[in-house]
Amino acid sequence: MQLLIIKGDLLMKNILVTGGAGYIGSHTCVELLQKGYGVIVVDNFDNSSPESLKRIEEITGKKVTVYEGDVRDGNLLDKIFSERKIDWVIHFAGLKAVGESCVKPIEYYNNNLYGTLVLTDTMRKHGCKKIVFSSSATVYGDPEILPLTEECKTGGTTNPYGTSKYFQEIMLEDIYKSDKEWTVVLLRYFNPVGAHESGMIGEDPKGIPNNLTPYISKVAIGELKEIGIFGNDYPTHDGTGVRDYIHVTDLAKGHVSAIEKINGNGVYTYNLGTGKGYSVLDVIRAFEKACGKKLPYAIKPRRAGDIAACYADASKAKKELGWTAELGIDEMCSSSWNWQKKNPEGYRR
Ligand code: NAD
Ligand code: WQD
Repeated sequence: MQLLIIKGDLLMKNILVTGGAGYIGSHTCVELLQKGYGVIVVDNFDNSSPESLKRIEEITGKKVTVYEGDVRDGNLLDKIFSERKIDWVIHFAGLKAVGESCVKPIEYYNNNLYGTLVLTDTMRKHGCKKIVFSSSATVYGDPEILPLTEECKTGGTTNPYGTSKYFQEIMLEDIYKSDKEWTVVLLRYFNPVGAHESGMIGEDPKGIPNNLTPYISKVAIGELKEIGIFGNDYPTHDGTGVRDYIHVTDLAKGHVSAIEKINGNGVYTYNLGTGKGYSVLDVIRAFEKACGKKLPYAIKPRRAGDIAACYADASKAKKELGWTAELGIDEMCSSSWNWQKKNPEGYRR
């Protein structure tokens, strides 16, 4: 049996997806499986449910190999790399709530930084030196110019979550500097939203959502009373904050493009965004169109740490990876609504 598995492993490219049960990870697993990759997930289900992995299998008709556990557990990672031939690692696992990171900085730095250290140490030990890392537009801090190119200054982050992303980028760059056999891909996501077209997987935040589109979804389904708009006095076209929202399926495809197109060692950094900025009011209107009802909102004070506007210059990813976002704001909102309607309680975890 073990021999058969190993033979199968040798025939296909295997990707270890850390945090593969989570929001972006699950959508990326679908795209990888549909492209014929073998997918191995390690997840501690701290912010996800094993149900998402079952749904990935239902959508694709393919099997996911799952290891339940923590990326900070060196023995578990050692076991995974000993049992499987792994060609690339896509590293999603981490904590991501900005507000919570200000209350629990130790937990955030421990999970995000230590997790990346244990993972890269184990990868080195097993001679697998190709990693795609989930970075974020948050590493740019408050942008000096827009749109943001990959050359823009990083740092100046305003919360432990953002700082952990900035530090992880530096750690991975230093690893490459010390050993030129590494291939490090830093993907800086803008604002991922939406859900798989099947409505079977999507974003499933615990408790009251912090992010805009999950919050709007909960208002649309009647679970929350009204949307609070955090400020309408920003220097933007309607005074509300502007962001570059990107459909999670496009984002997932960006990871596949990275592992397919990048050939050669080095550090490769890409913005994954659409290049378009939409305001909070623009998003609410698009969601109203998607769900076919008026959504109540109220203007609230600005949220601490928020910036006025942020959107990408995504031309480098287009030029070098042949990747470009295809889905627009209407598809982002209609797919979020489809997921919300079909799964009013998310994965019921
Ligand atoms: P998510 O919370 O849905 O997914 C993260 C997954 O990692 C979850 O399944 C969680 O259980 C798992 N996990 C967390 N710590 C772990 C650990 N120590 N060991 C094993 N598994 C662990 O988040 P997401 O939105 O899918 O984000 C994925 C990655 O992308 C994160 O690194 C996040 O910081 C980054 N990112 C997210 C956004 C966003 O807005 N969603 C934007 C930019 C970057
Ligand atoms: C979007 C806009 C809010 C909620 C965060 C992280 C960032 C990245 C993506 C991981 C802003 C406004 C929001 C609400 C509102 N994550 N808003 N009412 O803050 O751009 O980015 O997620 O890397 O690091 O900071 O996303 O969805 O919270 O906010 O008015 O109830 O919606 O002020 O203008 P943000 P968001």
